[in-house]
Amino acid sequence: MTQFQSSTREIPVAKAVPSHIAIIMDGNGRWAKQRMLPRIAGHQRGVKSVRNTIRHCVGIGVEYLTFFAFSSENWRRPKDEVSFLMTLFYSALAREIDQIQRDNLRFRVIGDLSPFDAKLVRLIRDAEALTRENTGLTFTIAANYGGRWDIMQAVSSMLKARPELASGFEEKDITPYLSMNYAPEPDLFIRTGGEQRISNFLLWQLAYAELYFTDTLWPDFDSPALELAIQSYQARERRFGRTSEQLLAHP
Ligand code: IPE
Ligand code: IPE
Ligand code: MG
Repeated sequence: MTQFQSSTREIPVAKAVPSHIAIIMDGNGRWAKQRMLPRIAGHQRGVKSVRNTIRHCVGIGVEYLTFFAFSSENWRRPKDEVSFLMTLFYSALAREIDQIQRDNLRFRVIGDLSPFDAKLVRLIRDAEALTRENTGLTFTIAANYGGRWDIMQAVSSMLKARPELASGFEEKDITPYLSMNYAPEPDLFIRTGGEQRISNFLLWQLAYAELYFTDTLWPDFDSPALELAIQSYQARERRFGRTSEQLLAHP
C-alpha cells in the first residue's frame, strides 16, 4: 500500500495547487429557505455544485477531492429529510456513474455503510470497483462518516489484525487502517455556509490542513468561489511547526 507522508512525523512538500481538498458542503437548507423552497430543494441543487467543483479541480490538477455528504450526527434530522438524502445519493450516483467513468475519475465512499439500504451499498461498491483502476482525480464522498468513528474503527481493526500492538503502538501503525488510507492528508479544508467548525469530519487527517470558511451557501459555491479559497490557500505560510526564518532559508 502507498505510504503517504504524515504531517506530524515528516514535513510534507507544500505545492501551489493543493493535492487534496476536503469540503464540508453546508448551507443547503438556508439556500432553500431564502427562496421559500423546502430544504430538500437545497440538497438537490447542491449536486450541481459537486459536479462543478469536481470539473474545476480536475482542470487545475487537484488529485483528491473529498466531500462531507452525511455525518454520523445527521441521523438526528427529521426522518423525511434523512430518507430524501439517501434517495438523492442513490439517484445522483446512478445518473452520474457513467460520466465519472468516462472522466477517468476514481470514486470512493468512506463512512459506516452498515445502516444503509442494501441497494445503495451495492451501487456504491459497484461504482468503486468500476473506477478502481482509473488514473484521474479521486473523488470521495463521506457518508455516515464521523472522525471519531474513523479513529476508533482504525484502532479496532489494527488490534484485530495485529494483537501484539495492544501493549503499545505508533502513528504509523494506525494510519493504514484509517478510511482515507489511499489519500494524502488534506492540504485545504473548505466549509461553506458560514459556520466555523469541523463537525466531526476528518479529525485525524486535518491535523495540518489550511482551514477556509466562507459564508457562501453550498448551492451557490461556483468556480469563482472555489478560486477565492485556493487563492487564500496560496497566501498561507505552511510552517508545519517551523519558524518563518527557517522556511525562508530552506523552503
Ligand atoms: C448541508 O446543508 C447538507 C447536509 C448536511 C446533508 P444543511 O442541510 O446543513 O444546510 P443548513 O445548514 O441547514 O443551511
Ligand atoms: C455537517 O453539516 C455535515 C455535512 C455537511 C454532511 P451540518 O450542517 O450537519 O453541521 P452542524 O451539525 O451544523 O455542525
Ligand atoms: Mg448545516
